Amino acid sequence: MPSLGGSGKRLPLLASPGKSDAPMPEQKATNIVWHAGAVTREERERLNGHRGAVVWLTGLSGSGKSTIAVALEKALWTRGVRTYILDGDNIRHGLNKNLGFSPADRTENIRRIGEVAKLFTDAGLVAVTAFISPYRADRDQVRALMRPGDFIEVLVDCPLDICEQRDVKGLYQKARAGQIPEFTGISAPYEAPLTPELTLRTAEQSPEESAAQVLAYLVARVIVSSR
Ligand SMILES: Nc1ncnc2c1ncn2[C@@H]1O[C@H](COP(=O)(O)OP(=O)(O)O)[C@@H](O)[C@H]1O
Ligand SMILES: [Mg+2]
Repeated sequence: MPSLGGSGKRLPLLASPGKSDAPMPEQKATNIVWHAGAVTREERERLNGHRGAVVWLTGLSGSGKSTIAVALEKALWTRGVRTYILDGDNIRHGLNKNLGFSPADRTENIRRIGEVAKLFTDAGLVAVTAFISPYRADRDQVRALMRPGDFIEVLVDCPLDICEQRDVKGLYQKARAGQIPEFTGISAPYEAPLTPELTLRTAEQSPEESAAQVLAYLVARVIVSSR
């Protein structure tokens, strides 16, 4: 298992293989035919005045994904960009309430979010996702679902010891006490992206600086206009 990207402290090697062996679900239904709409994604994008895309934030618990998602949405919204945040804990209250944190459930969690993010992208929005999404293969599956350039993988990079000091939700303390099994970084692996589109070093820069870094990327890629 690799270390965290960049400045991250190395995680201990774990006995578990990391990626779940659970196969991606097969198409179950037969006799289904795609029904095309009358309005295209390009037309929706023209109406919106910007392109659709997904900014996929990945990183340890407490690395700053949710905080940056909120700062980024605010920065985009003030520029007139239509956005939507998909946040791990929120989605687990609804769409994914039947999923836990086993490798197979984590894979299914990310598969569903990937499909939802793809729908938002097709709707011409900038979707911002904030999920640990610890498995490289799961994130790569989402990338493969989308058109080239639509999936912007952003490593929210923060050393484990700093995430643990922040311990926003008191989860690290519980995980260290053995009260939370399969906790990413402690008793479950985190596979950092090898070639993310962006890396945000949250031990060194503010959430607003991270949001500005993502915004600059979106402008450079002509996903949103330069004002
Ligand atoms: N530079 C920074 N970038 C992002 N978050 C930061 C930064 N410095 C401190 N924090 C704090 O770290 C915590 C990150 O928590 P959160 O955004 O919920 O992380 P995650 O969603 O990745 O689990 C917040 O309390 C935030 O205020
Ligand atoms: Mg969060």
